[in-house]
Amino acid sequence: MQIYLKITKKEYALYLFIYILYKFAKEYHYFSNYVKTNYSMKKNNIFTNAIIVLFLNLFFCPIHSIIAIGYNTRNHPDSVYTFVYHYGDPHSGLRIAYSIDNRYWIPLGNDYSFVKSDFGSWGPFKTMYNPSTLYDNGTWYVVWSVANNINQFATTKSEDFWIWKPQSYPYLYNSNSLINPILRKKGKKFELYYKTNDNNYYVVFSDDFNNWSDSRQINAETYDSVSNLKSIIINGKEYEGNINKVPYSTINKLIINVDNSQTRNALFNESCRDDINRFKNIESISGVLDLTSNIKPISSNLIGIFFEDINYSADGGLYAELIQNRDFEYNEMDRKEWNAKSFWETDSSTEFEISEDKPIHTNNRHYAVISSPDGFATLSNNGFDGIVLKKGDEYDFSFFAKSISKGKYNINVKLIDGDKVLAQSSFKVKTTEWKQQKAVLTPNSDSKNATLQLEIQGKGKIGLDFISLFPQNTYKSRPNGLRQDLAQVLADIHPKFIRFPGGCVTHGNGLENMYNWKETIGPLWERKSQFNLWGYHQSKGLGFYEFFQFCEDIGAEPLPVLPAGVCCQNSSIGGHGQQGGIPMDEMDDYTQDLLDLIEWANGDPSTSKWAKIRAESGHEQPFNLKMIGIGNEDLISDVFVERFKYINKTIKEHYPEIQVVGTVGPFFEGSDYEYGWQLAKDEKIDIVDEHYYVSPGWYIHNQDYYDTYDRNGTKVYLGEWASRSNELENALAESMHILNIERNADVVIMTSYAPLLAKIGHTQWNPDLIYFNNSEVLPTVNYYIQQLCGTNSGNNYIYSNLQIETKDLNGNLITSDNNPVQKRIKQSVVLDNSSGDLIIKLVNITPIPATLKIILNRYNNYKTVFLSTLAGEYNEKNIKPTYKSIDINDLHQLIIPSYSFTVLRLTNN
Ligand code: AHR
Repeated sequence: MQIYLKITKKEYALYLFIYILYKFAKEYHYFSNYVKTNYSMKKNNIFTNAIIVLFLNLFFCPIHSIIAIGYNTRNHPDSVYTFVYHYGDPHSGLRIAYSIDNRYWIPLGNDYSFVKSDFGSWGPFKTMYNPSTLYDNGTWYVVWSVANNINQFATTKSEDFWIWKPQSYPYLYNSNSLINPILRKKGKKFELYYKTNDNNYYVVFSDDFNNWSDSRQINAETYDSVSNLKSIIINGKEYEGNINKVPYSTINKLIINVDNSQTRNALFNESCRDDINRFKNIESISGVLDLTSNIKPISSNLIGIFFEDINYSADGGLYAELIQNRDFEYNEMDRKEWNAKSFWETDSSTEFEISEDKPIHTNNRHYAVISSPDGFATLSNNGFDGIVLKKGDEYDFSFFAKSISKGKYNINVKLIDGDKVLAQSSFKVKTTEWKQQKAVLTPNSDSKNATLQLEIQGKGKIGLDFISLFPQNTYKSRPNGLRQDLAQVLADIHPKFIRFPGGCVTHGNGLENMYNWKETIGPLWERKSQFNLWGYHQSKGLGFYEFFQFCEDIGAEPLPVLPAGVCCQNSSIGGHGQQGGIPMDEMDDYTQDLLDLIEWANGDPSTSKWAKIRAESGHEQPFNLKMIGIGNEDLISDVFVERFKYINKTIKEHYPEIQVVGTVGPFFEGSDYEYGWQLAKDEKIDIVDEHYYVSPGWYIHNQDYYDTYDRNGTKVYLGEWASRSNELENALAESMHILNIERNADVVIMTSYAPLLAKIGHTQWNPDLIYFNNSEVLPTVNYYIQQLCGTNSGNNYIYSNLQIETKDLNGNLITSDNNPVQKRIKQSVVLDNSSGDLIIKLVNITPIPATLKIILNRYNNYKTVFLSTLAGEYNEKNIKPTYKSIDINDLHQLIIPSYSFTVLRLTNN
């Protein structure tokens, strides 16, 4: 209903004036409150404010919305004070608080640690003391003391206090330590004042915050006069730190980053445990999967494996040798309590010494010297927790011996289980030169816990070394080969490549421990064993020849990865983390070793020295190496960058056809990721290796992670990844990630789960893909995802639409954007050109089965569908896929079970 009032023009003008006056009074009240409550808003005088309000009213514009806009863009302080501090605990890292008035301080992000020290070996050894912070010209600079007895300190910088430059640890040349640093800038020069542990005072200078001058001694007064430490009370506790003034926008971005990261972390921590609540209103799920005719080529090498000697994966694992410490090279570097005699037993009358005099080879310096007063000695070895033998199988026994006291000896070799002799053979030893002798032993019954025993008859001293027992039944019957059952379970994944030999094992604990491929080829007793940084021994019996051979045997591309001239940033040996790399003047030789590897793998034996060595080992034909990894999730420090660039450039100059795989740190974000990617772009690196071990929730909430990656630049190899357990929930989250990667497999061209193998009772890392003991192989549920994806890969991605309909308990359609089902059912469709098969993969991470209609459109000429399903309760561990054929018409109404991964392979066979 409308009411018309008849009024004169004069009356209208009067009413309008009264209305404006009323609005003015009302809005002015709002406005002045905003002014009062926000320090930063320019305090206009009353007259100006009145004009503004009147102006706004006259244009009939609601004033609060104008003020709200102003609030976002203008109504904040120009700058704020920041207080950068530290809890005092050396592991706690750098905190920041801000204040408008330099009195009331607001800490950012509930205990959020913005920078932690990377100095020192892994974990608790990484220390930060007394950080000093400077904000200059848009950049934060921080230095800290790393210990009170080390002539080094730590530096880093950042433009946003969020992404930090990988840390540097400059040396001090004239002083023995640095404590209580004070960082200042005078003109263009950085000045770093500090104390030492012997109570002296120094200053060093730098023009670029990278290169620091020699220290100059100063007196205590000078040091005190520059001190800029302030004490501030935050949440009732007093801290010391530095105050700087920064633009408000800087802190605002940080607030947003911290908020985002906290919100994201809450999301990433979700678990199927909460599904009862999450899906409590949902009754049914149905949907239509519609294949489009949009198609793009993708990598057909998506699923590979990454082998690292961790968790006893090599010796005592995949490498089939049955004798532990066969070469008497175990030592306390492997493990404190180990030595050359470890894992060897003698009886009470046997004298057992270790000698280094005239060894078989300089790389194999220790050997056993055995004697006994009564001329009967024994030496036995129980292998890696017992030797498993199979009745009727043949085992190659071999050993080196020499007579030291010029006597003659009979050696009886037995395989025993308790009192039972399962097989035996005897030998004579006469010469004073090393001689290898061999026999084939065939056990007369099975054993799970056999022992190899040598009975030595004869007076005097005998030298024994390299005592080996090797099954002939290895994978593809290779001598010095791989344990049949373990190799088979790897081959069953149908991996398209193998990355080896590590991980951390590649870049090693200290420069001396970096993996040297040349020490791993040739006769076994000439190979150089090493300590394994995972706390045991690497015999190198499984060396580069064996790795390459295995790749060939299972049709996988070899991807050897070697250090970038730097050791692991978490090293405890030779410094404190990544202190330095191979000196630059030795990098030529080091890089030559890498070029030699390419030559060894691909060269022509008639013209190439290294190819000839390969041929002499038994492989005349080239291995056809196509890629080489340089570095493993290294700190992208200046030291690393300089060496990496040098290696990359040299490889490309000599072998432009070889793809170099670089590295972008151990996380999916952060300094190494950012700076690693920057380096990849600057240097146009072919491929980079990303690593992340995250929760299932991360995969669910990062489905678009690769969607925005540059299609035309460096490609991605997701070289190490996993979700953090071996329950079905984890495996399904991993499968969802693979499906999202398939959509992005024009950029992400390879992936490998990590770690691969773990011997029960000897694990340093959990979860792993395949557990085993001496006689059993126990693939995890995560393994079956890798296997199902590895055996169902394609080389063309077909875009498809999955329209999901969810109904609530009343049968009503749920239309909300927050419907939890949407993110937890995913599909991927690929075409495999070689077989012509169409492969549809579906994952359902909900407790509700989904009924799907699959519309194939132009892909409707298939006859048969093979259905593989991995399904169960979300927290189950021991489930295996089931397989069956279904009718093509069943795709009109296909039930995808709750908590399941499904592969449909459409074929004409
Ligand atoms: O996969 C286990 C370890 O994880 C690897 O050695 C290392 O690269 C990563 O930190």
